[in-house]
Amino acid sequence: MSSIEVPVIAGDGIGPEITAAVLKVVDAAVERNGASLKWVPVTAGLSALDEGSELIPQSTLDEIARCRVALKGPCTTPVGEGFTSINVKLRKTFNLYAAVRPVRSMPGVETRYKDVDLIIIRENTEGLYSGVENEVTPGVVMSMKVASKEACQRIATWAFRFANRRERKKITVLHKANIMKLTDGLFLKCASDVHANDYPNLAFESTIIDAGCMKLVQDPSQFDVLLLENLYGDVISDLCAGLVGGLGVVPGANIGQDLSIFEAVHGSAPDIAGQNIANPLALLMSSVMMLNFLAETRQAPELRAGAELIRKAYDACLISGEKTRDLGGELGTSEFADAVIARL
Ligand code: NAI
Repeated sequence: MSSIEVPVIAGDGIGPEITAAVLKVVDAAVERNGASLKWVPVTAGLSALDEGSELIPQSTLDEIARCRVALKGPCTTPVGEGFTSINVKLRKTFNLYAAVRPVRSMPGVETRYKDVDLIIIRENTEGLYSGVENEVTPGVVMSMKVASKEACQRIATWAFRFANRRERKKITVLHKANIMKLTDGLFLKCASDVHANDYPNLAFESTIIDAGCMKLVQDPSQFDVLLLENLYGDVISDLCAGLVGGLGVVPGANIGQDLSIFEAVHGSAPDIAGQNIANPLALLMSSVMMLNFLAETRQAPELRAGAELIRKAYDACLISGEKTRDLGGELGTSEFADAVIARL
């Protein structure tokens, strides 16, 4: 039976409370199948600074590299000043080029839309996240948007292979290649080529992103898999979260060649930190993705059973109204975790 080591970054803001809740649920679920995970606490972000370490201590990078997986809470990035994003640094350091974010209607969560079932695939290493910004002359600053053929082909190939394996029907690229003819043009061309050469069995379309946003909020059912460059993927992820009940219900995985980091789409939510009211579900759903990933890549099929137990348990909670406040319920973070455990 498996006892796979998983480094855990609790993160900042609501990170520690939701992470504690999630670890408790996952432990209870995998134990039911006689399996276990060995959590390896590592630090990054403001909490690392508080402990007198660097923002991302080398020991954290070493542990993640050794275990080839991590579960990560959200990390704060200061706005308009201060240090650069730890999240971006981790994705770049480990070349986690594909962010996968399933966005689905949840049972028991009332929204304007029924049966939303989207998968967002975001290129995670380039675009305006190159972090190359400079002051050209006083009063004039610029930010460099980078696209390489290698990265555009890599994400397109990954997205089509993923969609094909999951028996999805269609990939839509949202872009602005009418204005950014070189960068977005390259992204679009690579996706179009991969489709034509390797996956003509899948439907493929492209939409200029401004009209795409309008179409998404009018009728999300016209989309299936969305393939986007880095910044658009970031923005559209939150827009799509709004279609299904908010940031509390959208998980994510950052996938690389042989290493993956699982984290929710949301941030550290400083406005509600420390109050035991944050929804741990998005991170819990990310841990379900992680268990399935480990089951597949580490020959640990018993973890898949644990993932399924968790999924059924949180669905049952939502259906019976056991929810956190963001979803219209009354449970606190830890109470929701206890409710899920009671239904395992
Ligand atoms: P945010 O996602 O933290 O919060 C946006 C809104 O959603 C807030 O009103 C918040 O209370 C609510 N919210 C978020 N997660 C929630 C949850 N689990 N349960 C209930 N409500 C939830 O975005 P914001 O405020 O723009 O960013 C805060 C910080 O997080 C920033 O420093 C940002 O850089 C960082 N961030 C980190 C990410 C990561 O670690 N991957 C991703 C996004 C933002």
